[in-house]
Amino acid sequence: MKKIEIAKQEYNENARPELTERVENMEAYDTVIIAFPNWWTTMPMAVFTFLESYDFSGKTICPLITHGGSGFSNSLKDIQRLCPGARITKGLAINGDDAATCDKDVEKWLKQIGLM
Ligand SMILES: Cc1cc2nc3c(=O)[nH]c(=O)nc-3n(C[C@H](O)[C@H](O)[C@H](O)COP(=O)(O)O)c2cc1C
Repeated sequence: MKKIEIAKQEYNENARPELTERVENMEAYDTVIIAFPNWWTTMPMAVFTFLESYDFSGKTICPLITHGGSGFSNSLKDIQRLCPGARITKGLAINGDDAATCDKDVEKWLKQIGLM
């Protein structure tokens, strides 16, 4: 099966693909940048697995997304739903076509959210 079909099936089944690695010291981080592509209107389901694997209460999540034209779609509200105790900063949505040349946008965003 092609990646795009596997991704669609995972989305349709609301799957939680198993991750191969775990962050052992997540408690050491106050701020987490979550970077992912928009797949079928939201995060890849593996990112759902990631967000459900830790307690993000009291932490700050900074969403950075690439997309093919539809921006954040449902991803921000899905992050909020999975991490109700987290503070979600303003996100940055980059069109995949601009990913190689978006340094300035990333820098501006990092400054806006106080990470630079
Ligand atoms: C399985 C799959 C589903 C996608 N679904 C969407 C979508 O719903 N909305 C959208 O704007 N882009 C969608 N895209 C386009 C990706 O978001 C875009 O190609 C990606 O962010 C660019 O990063 P990449 O070069 O790593 O693929 C999809 C891409 C794939 C592979």
